[in-house]
Amino acid sequence: MTLLDDIAGVGTDPARGGYSRHGFDTAELELREWFSAEATRRGLDVTGDRNGNLWAWWGEPGDGAVVTGSHLDSVPGGGAFDGPLGVTSALEAVDLLRSRGFRPAKPFAVVVFAEEEGGRFGVPCLGSRLLTGALDPDRARRLTDPAGTTLADAARAAGIDPAGFGADPAALARIGVFVELHVEQGRGLVDLAAPVGVADSILAHGRWRFSLSGQGNHAGTTLMADRVDPMLPAARLVLDANRLVSDVEGARATVGRIVPTPGGTNVIASTVDVWLDVRADDDERTRAVVDAITAAAADTARGSGCGLTVTEESYSTAVTFDAALRDRLAAGLGGVPVLPTGAGHDAGVLAAHVPTAMLFVRNPTGISHAPAEHAEPGDCAAGAVALADVLADLAGPAS
Ligand code: GLV
Ligand code: MN
Ligand code: MN
Repeated sequence: MTLLDDIAGVGTDPARGGYSRHGFDTAELELREWFSAEATRRGLDVTGDRNGNLWAWWGEPGDGAVVTGSHLDSVPGGGAFDGPLGVTSALEAVDLLRSRGFRPAKPFAVVVFAEEEGGRFGVPCLGSRLLTGALDPDRARRLTDPAGTTLADAARAAGIDPAGFGADPAALARIGVFVELHVEQGRGLVDLAAPVGVADSILAHGRWRFSLSGQGNHAGTTLMADRVDPMLPAARLVLDANRLVSDVEGARATVGRIVPTPGGTNVIASTVDVWLDVRADDDERTRAVVDAITAAAADTARGSGCGLTVTEESYSTAVTFDAALRDRLAAGLGGVPVLPTGAGHDAGVLAAHVPTAMLFVRNPTGISHAPAEHAEPGDCAAGAVALADVLADLAGPAS
């Protein structure tokens, strides 16, 4: 836990609780500095790529490397482990491998991906999506945070030239295999009484913005019959999402963010933005849920005289991790459990391009994206040892 303890004071959020560390904000930049210093202290060579990701090379960079790492940003008011545990465990795995006298027989790197949560600019896995070409760089440059700062400006302020954003085939070719360790975001390992597991799959998931427009007005002087209040279809949308998702087995629908404009207690909103997160086993089921919610929202908006526009802000198809790699990891770790997840990861983005795997560390609360997210020190240590074992297997001499 020592490395996680080192960063425990960075980006704490007294208002929300937990941590708010977002792409290229003060906290995330401090964590990137911290990572660079820790990697350099270990004799790793740190470089940034064109898309704001950090790479720490153990030995010469080269194609087909064994790569491990995660992200350092959080959701608003998030936990201490989602992201940072994968980065600190990667550094600890390097220490462990060194202490065993291991030298990688292949190129080897620890990576920190930029803005995995999309907590500031709305699109998750920004760094890995840009690198793999899954996100249009023009669109990325124009993304804005709630204060109106563009991603281009935020990157520039962090010393990254946004003109360089976009598919980076050279960086992708350097990844031969990617292994991301992550705190588990459910109770799978608790129920199986296992400290460490291997990922099997990720649900399809996406984010949609429903913008409802009405007529801004005075809360006291506007008669109820005279209002065109977009908060009413927004409220109905939340309830409809919760109701309609139950028609599709295993699907999940969440509204975690609503922004009324202008947002005054004594003001009827002129617009309300509602962000919907939907996840399901496959594209068809996910689209079915979104289509049903969109149709219901369109009906309600029409009935209340409001306008509605729906924008898909991100979409990730379902991922099944490389089966041979998954089985090799699970067997190499003595038959640890293999389990699915509903959470998105940079590993999920990379899985479309290179053999990719994930290790999960038990989370006794099962809670994530909230301050109660937790992992016991002993389980974190078991995770770092498991990661070191896996990396030794993958980066060792061919047998
Ligand atoms: C990221 O952790 C997500 O699943 O949204
Ligand atoms: Mn997360
Ligand atoms: Mn994460």
